[in-house]
Amino acid sequence: MSEYNLEDKIVESAKKSQEFVVEKRRDFHRHPEVKFEEKRTAEIVETFLKDWGYETKRAAGTGVIGVLECGGVGGRIVALGADIDALNVEEENDVPYKSVISGKMHACGHDAHTAMLLGAAKLISDLRDSFNGTVKLVFQPGEEGGAGAKKVLEEGHLDDVDAIFGIHVWVEVPSGVLATRKGPMMASSDGFEIRIAGKGGHAAHPHLANDPTAPAADIYNAFHKLVSRAANPFSPVVITLPMVKASDGYNVIPESVEIRGTLRTFDSNLRDRLMKRMQSIAERYAEGWGCSSSFGLFRAPYPPLVNDSSLVDFVTEALQAIGPIVEAEMTMGGEDFAFYTQKIPGAFLQLGIRNEEKNIVFPHHHPKFDVDEDVLWKGVAAYALLAYKYLQLS
Ligand code: NI
Repeated sequence: MSEYNLEDKIVESAKKSQEFVVEKRRDFHRHPEVKFEEKRTAEIVETFLKDWGYETKRAAGTGVIGVLECGGVGGRIVALGADIDALNVEEENDVPYKSVISGKMHACGHDAHTAMLLGAAKLISDLRDSFNGTVKLVFQPGEEGGAGAKKVLEEGHLDDVDAIFGIHVWVEVPSGVLATRKGPMMASSDGFEIRIAGKGGHAAHPHLANDPTAPAADIYNAFHKLVSRAANPFSPVVITLPMVKASDGYNVIPESVEIRGTLRTFDSNLRDRLMKRMQSIAERYAEGWGCSSSFGLFRAPYPPLVNDSSLVDFVTEALQAIGPIVEAEMTMGGEDFAFYTQKIPGAFLQLGIRNEEKNIVFPHHHPKFDVDEDVLWKGVAAYALLAYKYLQLS
């Protein structure tokens, strides 16, 4: 079969997988599982993969790796990634596939990712004789704050992989449009915590207490000032401190204050420098007010997601048949696919799912987030075309 025909065949088969993919997406959507609790999801995925001839392994606890050796001894190994976890969000959509688990929801579209990669798994298995190497599927748990990708890497599952591709449905991009970009695409993401301990007391007698809210207010302001004073204006930085926990009573000086926030950049050196500055500011303000303090991370830091430039050229060429492909906007959002691109040449794509007519406009992680299901076949086609064409490269 000629390459041209096989490409057509992949696109045709992807379109035919649409019904299966929607059904699976709705099933995962109804039964969301948050980070490292994805037992049901993983079992469904693993059962299908085994049926379709994949060798399977568990990864990072509740993740599943599927390997299909297609042909050509010593050929390349290409990895395709999808995250499978949901969020602690109470769904507010009135849809037949609404989450049946209270307080949990697939509010980032990882249900669609899982279903699309399953669709691609079946397609690749059906056409395996035409593929020229090994396909490794990575159904990864714990993307949302769990750094599941880091665990998958640390367990060595991707040591032999030549390239990795991932897709995220994206509500800022019109439905059916594919987007990617060379170099940095998504920001690093840190979650830090400051604790300032003083001495509580009555609000009427502050001189008898040692009020930790005084340094807390200074630290809050000083951190924001770092953005304009310590970073090159051509390097985007976000510092947000949305959690400030102090006293429960207007007349009670608390014993301690806890501040949690996030730092986002596209530059690992800048990130390291700002982390040190934040720590030193927190310590010194606390000390200046006679308090003690601690500064640390409460979760694993995510590096910036940096796409391999030549792979982005490859992607743009390989997916012409299912375009349009546009340049993605950089986003301060974080994504743990970034761990993969630090170790392996990789490219991350957005698949647009925004559809104003269907009122699919709500942002990721919103209780009304939804996905325009009509374009999910494109994700299947993209995964399969990227694997097929990458393995064809010599
Ligand atoms: Ni996500």
